[in-house]
Amino acid sequence: MHRENWGTRFGFIMATAGSAVGLGNIWRFPYTTGQEGGGAFLLIYLACIAVLGLAVVMAELVVGRSTQRNPVGAFKKLGGGQWPHVGMMGVIAGFVILSFYIVVAGWTIAYIFLMARGVLSDPTAVNLEKVFTDFITNPYEPVLYASVFMGLCAMVVLKGVGAGIERASKIFMPVMFAILIVLVIRSITLPGAEEGIRFFLIPDWSKVSADTFTAALGQAFFSLSLGMGALITYGSYMPKDHNLPADAAMVVTLDTSVAVLAGFVILPAVFAAGLSPGAGPGLTFITLPAVFAAIPAGQIFGILFFILLAIAALTSAVSLLEVVVAYFVDEHKYSRRKATVIVSAICLGLGIPSSLSLGVWDFKIWDKGFMDWMEYLAVNLMLPIGAMLTSLFVGWRLGPKAVKAITNDGTLNIPATGLWLFILRYVAPLGILWILISGLN
Ligand code: PHE
Repeated sequence: MHRENWGTRFGFIMATAGSAVGLGNIWRFPYTTGQEGGGAFLLIYLACIAVLGLAVVMAELVVGRSTQRNPVGAFKKLGGGQWPHVGMMGVIAGFVILSFYIVVAGWTIAYIFLMARGVLSDPTAVNLEKVFTDFITNPYEPVLYASVFMGLCAMVVLKGVGAGIERASKIFMPVMFAILIVLVIRSITLPGAEEGIRFFLIPDWSKVSADTFTAALGQAFFSLSLGMGALITYGSYMPKDHNLPADAAMVVTLDTSVAVLAGFVILPAVFAAGLSPGAGPGLTFITLPAVFAAIPAGQIFGILFFILLAIAALTSAVSLLEVVVAYFVDEHKYSRRKATVIVSAICLGLGIPSSLSLGVWDFKIWDKGFMDWMEYLAVNLMLPIGAMLTSLFVGWRLGPKAVKAITNDGTLNIPATGLWLFILRYVAPLGILWILISGLN
């Protein structure tokens, strides 16, 4: 059967950037930076992206493009033996991430309506922190929004790669970028914003511990959609004549720019509003409305922004779902429809305890509730381990064959392919292992 391909280079980049750019950049990155102490975290994060991120993005894309398979099938075809387990772990990680991702994505949909109703327009009259906490601790509403989001995601995946994912990403990603820039300008010119800029840019090494590294590494992989086969799957739809390293570099640059821009929106606003940067997952939802309230026509911008954030979340969630669906379609011969419906339903089922763990279900192990555990296990453990094994696989098992593949059989002139292999063979596996081990105690 002919495998569906991305329509154009621009379409591929937008769809892959669509997978990468999501809640990870605009929600998770700013609050993690806030919790981990600011500038030092930013530097460690950027180092993880530059040294490991690009190399592993290329590694995943090349595995996908050479095999045209889902992660499990790809490892089967190229490696055999125990390697398909790496793909399997990715499928499981994707599933777990999706289960809490839809909960947070549901919040963004709810905020579209809150903005539209004007509830958030006057921060002196309402307590934005309380609005947020009241909403996420409610046992029903967030679950309802998560279901709506899961349904949307299933609809896109049912439509398939070109018609659904690519078309949506091509339109929405550029608009999102433009709005973000308007917001940066407003946020950094708010009175009191300067302290936030300083917090974000000037490293304070006294706040760095082993956990900072674990958090930065997990965030880097999460943000680039690495370590669970999403990019293997997207690479499997990539035409053989594309310049893979150039496309990969473009995606990494876009993703990192959006995260940094989001940092420039959220953190200065946190300080301007006199809030604490360590406030956690509510940071984006609490501060953004305050920024909107401070700009002319803020309500309109606010509605538009949360719509775009929901869409950015959708293009990422779609890639998570696509990995699991592609696995069931290719390996277990499910129809696309059957796989999509079953996976979405089970995922929503797993999302419910996540949502409830923020409110009525206050069961905690070592200070972490259910959602915290899902996030911790998937992002801080499974993604780095997946990325480490993928690096070993491409570096050692494929080795020179991988170089041949990224240079399109030697027809492209790609610099530093030796360095790339060196990173995949030594730097990535040892670096990740070291960070994982030091993060354990
Ligand atoms: N990269 C996405 C984000 O930043 C999340 C994601 C992780 C998507 C892993 C696919 C795979 O929101």
